[in-house]
Amino acid sequence: MESSSVRTAQRNLARSKKTTETAVDLEDRNILVKDADIWNGKGFTRGCILILEGRIKRIARSITDSGVETIDALGLKALPGLIDVHVHLRDIGLAYKEDFATGTAAAAAGGFTTVLDMPNTVPPTDSASRLIEKRRVAAQKTYVNVGFHAAAVSDSHDIESLADAGAFSLKLYMPKPIAPFDVENDQAIEKMMRTAGRVGTPVTVHAEDLVTGENTSKTDSFEAAAEARPPIFETRAVDRLLRIQKKARCHVHYCHLTLRSSLTKITGSTRSTSEVTPHHLLLSKKILSSLRWRAWMVPPLRSEETRWSLLKSTLTGLCSVIASDHAPHAVIEKDQSVSKSPPGIPGLETTLPLMLTLVNRQQMSLSLLVKLLCDNPARIFGLKSKAKLRRGADGDVVLVDLKKKSMIDSSKFFSKAKYSPFDGFRTQGAVHSTIVGGGVVYREGEIVAGEGSGSVLRSGSC
Ligand code: DOR
Ligand code: ZN
Ligand code: ZN
Repeated sequence: MESSSVRTAQRNLARSKKTTETAVDLEDRNILVKDADIWNGKGFTRGCILILEGRIKRIARSITDSGVETIDALGLKALPGLIDVHVHLRDIGLAYKEDFATGTAAAAAGGFTTVLDMPNTVPPTDSASRLIEKRRVAAQKTYVNVGFHAAAVSDSHDIESLADAGAFSLKLYMPKPIAPFDVENDQAIEKMMRTAGRVGTPVTVHAEDLVTGENTSKTDSFEAAAEARPPIFETRAVDRLLRIQKKARCHVHYCHLTLRSSLTKITGSTRSTSEVTPHHLLLSKKILSSLRWRAWMVPPLRSEETRWSLLKSTLTGLCSVIASDHAPHAVIEKDQSVSKSPPGIPGLETTLPLMLTLVNRQQMSLSLLVKLLCDNPARIFGLKSKAKLRRGADGDVVLVDLKKKSMIDSSKFFSKAKYSPFDGFRTQGAVHSTIVGGGVVYREGEIVAGEGSGSVLRSGSC
């Protein structure tokens, strides 16, 4: 019988020859996961998952003689593959920071089987043709399922063509719009939201309302830079957008919120969803004096009290989604004075171990983790066949060793961004293997699939 490493090598070779977005070798999409504790929506049931041609064919206590590659998952938990709705993969023009291969390898190593890429790239994802070009490049390189957000644009026809091209949302970056957009003008936002609502595309927002005159560029320390973007910027943006959104009747997803008050308002508003990041949940601005650029992102870290109340509210179910806001930069760019240091930290490889650590400390339930990292992301962004471990669903599975202890070490990241404010954090709970569409992509520290083995997603067709 053929050894599994030979099979893997053959599979890698077959995958590396892939040239089109749809050229997926279905024979590589068969796997039997044996004797895992399988997430059933409430708890775990011991059993086997048979994935054929990329989809879950059967889940049963015992499945033998399937004639396909088998993973012995005794002692491991099988969860639906995680979905990160907020990542910056940087390809095409900023590939020195990250590219589709390294960013999605990081995703697989972090247990994410689907990621949605942000549009603030070079060139920006602001037209159907640019979105289609990104999809073409990503298809050659991605290890996981990847979809694309597009920039919020003002022309209604452009919005329609972005929706037709499969954009998962229109992203409004309030501090500095990605495509020309009069962000000061409520009517312009309302018109864009109305069109988005009509074509059924959500609007995602970076809700920080920076007012001219409150410029943040003249500060000389990272702490001062954080103070220069205070919580009131978020409050002002959220209040304003909620008001506009009510008239426009469109779905708005509020990215990386930092305040309990924002979560409360959004929970009470129809067609609104909220997102928080692990760094805003677990870190506060007091670490900025020692970690400096390693902990510099926007919105910035908040006070310990604000962080704690964000964490408490998230743990009591006040938030819709956890996303990493994986925002990699080159260390050489980051390690500069605050006025030159670009904000953003990598998060794909730290999110799940950090959240599993909360589970092990009994601060977070596994059902909340699955809701925030699988169910709600899939529901909000229309990924209908994802985040389900049942017959007919996509074969996206993460196998987790819930008890494994490790330490975060950014030098081992698959991401090009080898820094993290979580370096040295002790975690409990680790990714063992990540299966994307029935193919093993990551296993015990290694990427075992070929570049381009993942799929490119279009909104509305998954
Ligand atoms: O810290 C951040 N980095 N916040 C953003 O909103 C943008 C992101 C980036 O693209 O680097
Ligand atoms: Zn943002
Ligand atoms: Zn972001």
